[in-house]
Amino acid sequence: MKDIVYLNGEFMPRAEARISPDDRGFLFGDALYEVTPVYGGRFLALDRHMERLRRGCATLRIPFPEGLEALHQELLELNDLQEEEMATVYLQLSRGTAPRTHAFPDPPVPPTLYAWAKPFKRLDQESWEKGFGAVTVPDQRWGRADLKTVQLLPMVMAQQAARDAGEADALLVRDGLALEGSHNNVFFVFGDLLVTHPASNQILPGITRALVLELAREEGIPVEERPTAVGDLQCVSEVFYTGTTTEVRPTVRIDGKPVGDGKVGPVTRRLHEAFRAMVARECGAALV
Ligand SMILES: Cc1ncc(COP(=O)(O)O)c(C=O)c1O
Repeated sequence: MKDIVYLNGEFMPRAEARISPDDRGFLFGDALYEVTPVYGGRFLALDRHMERLRRGCATLRIPFPEGLEALHQELLELNDLQEEEMATVYLQLSRGTAPRTHAFPDPPVPPTLYAWAKPFKRLDQESWEKGFGAVTVPDQRWGRADLKTVQLLPMVMAQQAARDAGEADALLVRDGLALEGSHNNVFFVFGDLLVTHPASNQILPGITRALVLELAREEGIPVEERPTAVGDLQCVSEVFYTGTTTEVRPTVRIDGKPVGDGKVGPVTRRLHEAFRAMVARECGAALV
C-alpha cells in the first residue's frame, strides 16, 4: 500500500514527514482536525466537513487554508484509493510552530497542515445485525465540545473504558444527560420518536448526525433534538450511534443491560438502509 502524506505544501512518504517538537499542536493541542469519508473514490459531504473546519478556524483564529478540496482529491489519487469501497482522509491544522508561550505567536506563524488518506474497512452486515454495546462514562471535556480539536484525551480515556469493558462504544454523561460517544453521536428511539442531543457546545456536531437527521425527516420519522437523561434510558426501545467511520450502528446493550428487547430495532434498520442508499446515490450506485 502506498502511504503518501501531505505536510506543509509537499507530498511525501509518511516515513519522511517531520514536524517540529515546538509545533503548538504537540505542545498545547492547539489544532483542529477533520476526518472525511470517501466511497468508491467519491467524497461524501466534503463541503460540510470543510465548513465545520472553517467555523473552527474562525473561532480559534487559525487562518483557514484554501485549496483543501483539491488536496483531498490529490491524496486519494496519490494513494491509489479511487477504487476502494471506503477510505478516509485525515487532516490536521495547528496554529504552527513557535517558541512555547501560551498566547498566540506574535507575529503569527504559518499553520502546520498535515493530511493523509487510507482505506477503511466497513463493518460487515453479520456483525451489524448482532448489534454493539456501550458503557456510560463521565464526560470530562472542556466547555467547547463543539470544536473538533485534537485535545482528545477525555475521549481516549472514554474509549479505553469501553474497550476495558469489552464493548464498542462509550456513552458520555454530563449532569445526568447522555450526550454522545467518544467519536460518534448517539440517537435514542422513544416509542415513535427519534431523539438526539441538540447541536450545542456540549457535543460535536457530527456531519453524519446531520445527514441522518435529514434522512429521518425525509422518511417521515418524527425527530426531536433534545437532551436525554440517563434515567430515561430504561424507556428507550432503540439506540444507535452515528459517525464518519461508525455510519449508522445499532447499540443493543448499555452498561450490560439490554436496550429494549436487546435486538436491532426497525428505526435503526430503516435509517441504516436509508444511509446506505444515500451513499449509493451520492457516491456511486455500485456500493450498496
Ligand atoms: C466526539 C465526536 N462526536 C461525534 C463525531 C461524529 O462526527 P462525524 O459524523 O462528522 O464523523 C465525532 C467524529 O469524530 C466525534 O469525535
